[in-house]
Amino acid sequence: MKTLRTVDELRAALNGPRRAGHSIGLVPTMGALHEGHLSLIRRARASCDQVVVTLFVNPAQFGDPDDLAAYPRDEAQDGVLADAAGADILFTPSAGEVYPLGFATTVTVDEISAPLEGAQRGPAHFAGVATVVTKLLNMAQPDVAFFGQKDAQQVAVIRRVVRDLDIPVRIEVGETIRDSDGVALSSRNVRLRAADRRRAVALRRGLDAVRACHAAGERDPTILAAIGRAAMAELGVEPEYLELVAPESFAPVNSVRDEPVLVAVAARVGDVRLIDNDILD
Ligand code: PAJ
Repeated sequence: MKTLRTVDELRAALNGPRRAGHSIGLVPTMGALHEGHLSLIRRARASCDQVVVTLFVNPAQFGDPDDLAAYPRDEAQDGVLADAAGADILFTPSAGEVYPLGFATTVTVDEISAPLEGAQRGPAHFAGVATVVTKLLNMAQPDVAFFGQKDAQQVAVIRRVVRDLDIPVRIEVGETIRDSDGVALSSRNVRLRAADRRRAVALRRGLDAVRACHAAGERDPTILAAIGRAAMAELGVEPEYLELVAPESFAPVNSVRDEPVLVAVAARVGDVRLIDNDILD
């Protein structure tokens, strides 16, 4: 595996494979790699000839400077893990490489960026994600890019960017990878204190309670959401949101009938903000 830091180096490295007709897979990450990231890299390895993993802690998508400062960083370990999972290239540009002096362009996605994560984290969050992902797609020009279902709204935003801006890439989505107790893996989990790590299971408990209630026949989203919140409250966790929305538009649903519904949840556990989701079919 090669580690590359500039767009020129990346383009030069991908030129040969592209001309030879080899497929290129891109896995964008902010590092602190865990099994969630590695599952995407392995998936890329299984279906693409060249696998590029990007590692860039994108300042533009962090509203809170403390969250950005506290974001875990370990490039050496990430390199070992990405290599073992099958990456050919680790692309880890500096902030100056991604945002050169005078940088003035932002990609914003209306409507689906506004609710849930957009409302909690502010409008700059998904604009930051959409802008950096557009740039990474333009830098590497992959055939396929891989994202995780754990960040369901992020996937919806990226799909919309790709569609609206005619970016020639296929988006593939990998399932959420969880710890044995059901907690979705996240780079932020390492910041949870032991007692908070135990309470972090509340998000999954809330989603499980909604699923069970739905399976028992309940179709009213207000009641389903209340059941989920109550299950979380048993562990002393109050969600920032627990909502039932349409999986593509992220608009609230009035009833859970024929169409699949996404149940999205976010909560602060101790100092750490966690998100999770589930799809009711
Ligand atoms: P990051 O949080 O590092 O996540 C990188 C990718 O891994 C994302 O597609 C995310 O959805 C996926 N992922 C994270 N946890 C996962 C889990 N438990 N199971 C499956 N997939 C998981 O998401 C970002 O970085 C950034 O916003 C980025 C897209 C790189 C743009 O900066």
